[in-house]
Amino acid sequence: MKTTISVIKADIGSVAGHVVAHKALKDKCREVLSKAKEDGIIEDFYVTNCGDDVNLIMTHRRGEDDEEVHRTAWEAFKEATKVSKKMKLYGAGQDLLSDTFSGNVKGLGPGCAEMEFKERPSDPVVVFCCDKTEPGAFNLPLFRIFADPFNTAGLVIDPSLHKGYKFEVYDVIDHKRVMMSCPEEMYDLLALLGSISRYVIKKIYRKKDDEIAASVSTERLNLIAGKYIGKDDPVAIVRAQSGFPATGEILEAFAQPHLVGGWMRGSHNGPLMPVSEKDAVPTRFDGPPRVMALGFQISECKLIGPIDLFDDPIFERSRRLAANISEYMRRHGPFEPHRLPSDEMEYTTLPDVLKKLKDRFEDIED
Ligand code: F6R
Ligand code: MG
Ligand code: MG
Repeated sequence: MKTTISVIKADIGSVAGHVVAHKALKDKCREVLSKAKEDGIIEDFYVTNCGDDVNLIMTHRRGEDDEEVHRTAWEAFKEATKVSKKMKLYGAGQDLLSDTFSGNVKGLGPGCAEMEFKERPSDPVVVFCCDKTEPGAFNLPLFRIFADPFNTAGLVIDPSLHKGYKFEVYDVIDHKRVMMSCPEEMYDLLALLGSISRYVIKKIYRKKDDEIAASVSTERLNLIAGKYIGKDDPVAIVRAQSGFPATGEILEAFAQPHLVGGWMRGSHNGPLMPVSEKDAVPTRFDGPPRVMALGFQISECKLIGPIDLFDDPIFERSRRLAANISEYMRRHGPFEPHRLPSDEMEYTTLPDVLKKLKDRFEDIED
């Protein structure tokens, strides 16, 4: 019998602006998920938040894209939105783009990462949750975890990893996907993955037996809604140990806070800061972007854990570095590359400014 992990998230309102989801929203989601557990739809769950996003981590026997599991998550968010609206929380229900559920949360606003597998004798998993950034934020660390021997020693010295991994990459603009194999196609893969707002890793498979290794939420809210309604704030699931990278190799890729798009008004580059659950409170300039890592053992479809994996003093250096990078980036104010290029900004006054100046622009005679 196979086990499925579904991580479904949404921003349904927060306190003091876009900072932190209120506890009452998580409690309401827990209530809905407890009922779904009693009804046998899901086997287990853990509810958390990363900044203003509520994350539902669920295990079940129903496979990916299951209508009942997705309906459960949708209902949890809908019920919690009622609480959010009553409390007049900020952005209440902002990621729920539809009034009606149509079989799957994809395209309705929430982000979703899922994977199904046959449990090994022991199955450690890391769930990552982000705030104030976009799905491409995982490109660099996932590449390093599954393809960079300077990050993952096992790629070189462990025979069970040595063959490498396959990357399923989505073009989120043209809605196409391609499967690429590492190490052979590493340079071609990097040519795509460097464009983090367009090409994003969806899934990663172990090459020797096609076993699922990682899964990422790739929904881009502004592409779904056609306008800015918040950043996508992605989640990812990564399997660890015994033929997969070790937990420490997985976390290692986040030790250097790389620059990602998001931060203030979804329109700035900033460092992805690895934080504990309690420190997922993005306040400086609405950030900088955050990532949390929760470690579980999956046992007979139950979640053992979590361990708050970035709650380790060794990551204090990374956080300090992220704070220093934030200071440096902030000094650029409205200039690129702190501010995103105009086509990647979530909202902009540029068209209006250009319209206003239309008659004042003159040809340059050279
Ligand atoms: C970024 C984000 C925030 C808001 C900013 C302005 O993803 O959620 O940085 O963009 O606080 O929010 P509004 O326009 O709601 O005042
Ligand atoms: Mg928000
Ligand atoms: Mg958010």
